[in-house]
Amino acid sequence: MLGHHLRGKRILLIVSGGIAAYKSLDLVRRLRERNAAVRCVMTQSAEEFVTPLSLQALSEDKVYRALFSLTDESEMGHINLSRQADLVVIAPATANILAKMAGGIADDLATTLLLATDKDVLAAPAMNVRMWNHAATQANLATLKSRGVRFIGPNEGDMACGEYGPGRMAEPLEVVAAIEAYFGTDAPLAGRRALVTSGPTYEAIDPVRFIGNRSSGKQGHALAAALASAGAETTLVSGPTAEPAPAGVSVVRIESARQMLEACQAALPVDIAICAAAVADWRVASEAPQKLKKQEGGAPPSLSFAENPDILATLSHLNEGRPRLVIGFAAETENVVENAVAKRARKGCDWMLANDVSAGTGAFGGDANTMHLITPDGVEDWPRLTKRQIADRLAAQIAAHFRSLPA
Ligand code: PMT
Repeated sequence: MLGHHLRGKRILLIVSGGIAAYKSLDLVRRLRERNAAVRCVMTQSAEEFVTPLSLQALSEDKVYRALFSLTDESEMGHINLSRQADLVVIAPATANILAKMAGGIADDLATTLLLATDKDVLAAPAMNVRMWNHAATQANLATLKSRGVRFIGPNEGDMACGEYGPGRMAEPLEVVAAIEAYFGTDAPLAGRRALVTSGPTYEAIDPVRFIGNRSSGKQGHALAAALASAGAETTLVSGPTAEPAPAGVSVVRIESARQMLEACQAALPVDIAICAAAVADWRVASEAPQKLKKQEGGAPPSLSFAENPDILATLSHLNEGRPRLVIGFAAETENVVENAVAKRARKGCDWMLANDVSAGTGAFGGDANTMHLITPDGVEDWPRLTKRQIADRLAAQIAAHFRSLPA
């Protein structure tokens, strides 16, 4: 059965011009199935990909296209279009429309609405991987995030242009989940933003070799899924894992500790940060530009190491924009609770979850774990639970914590 979260909600959907515009048709259908009212605005280039007639038929409403249309203005001033919505969604959001938003450009109906709106905006970016990775796009994203624009996706995968990487628009059901999470005002973490790190980091030795660890990402991904189901707008920064992206979560994939730190900083501001990743404490001091060669009869190469940035400690010690609740995970093989208590103090986080990761515990890679939650109030021993149960329990305690804070 479909959720009724969206009954009566009014979505203003801006469709900009990219190949992913075809997904907007399915998005409208899914939103209508959930009883949301959808009004569509198309940019001129979107019309090269989908027709206004298709969007009109699916949304069962007029589609707005031109800024200077006397008929449209007499029926509904362009400012009113956004005022009469509960949420503005841009799907797909091209690099171009994001750049215009960041620069405050209003040269067509869609961008004028975006500049004039007093409603929250959720964007589902879609573009070529190089455009996504370009410094200009990343700077625009940071600007828009700092202004409160929400994002879902993009996902990683094969692209219409034949390349592979991040840039595919989130699937329509993922966008729906993000919209439902936004409106899920009864959800315990509705209106909160969360950041989770997950998986291992890979530290390159040369172009083909790396130093890694046995983290599977199961715990971190379960945490992101639990926070998103509890209504938080969640970004998951993940090292290389085989875990699928949790629904309704924005996933940023990285390899090294330094990339993880950068991605976490780009996801700020957030209310909650949970560092469940197994981050390498050290990287190889100088990555060899070419594959290291085995010398016949020669000695094996020796590696020297440099210290990696500590992401948990960095987030915990931010002077400006520190997340209100920073949670770390302590992986210990002896004196688990004692060492974790000291680690919490050293890294400056608010809560620490301690786990015994000795061989045979299955903490790394397994489906269950035994945790001890360390807070300023003391230590709570949890029974053995599945990683999803751990995630749900932690999400519930986080929600209770925020409820207990003064408004
Ligand atoms: O991924 P799974 O297979 O599901 O396994 C889950 C897990 C065992 C990886 C998880 O439960 C866990 O314990 N994660 C933390 C692993 C770890 O790196 O622990 P640590 O004690 O070395 O680090 C303490 C904290 O500092 C962690 O929150 C870690 O993310 C963070 N850290 C560490 C080093 C660093 N350079 N930056 C960090 O942010």
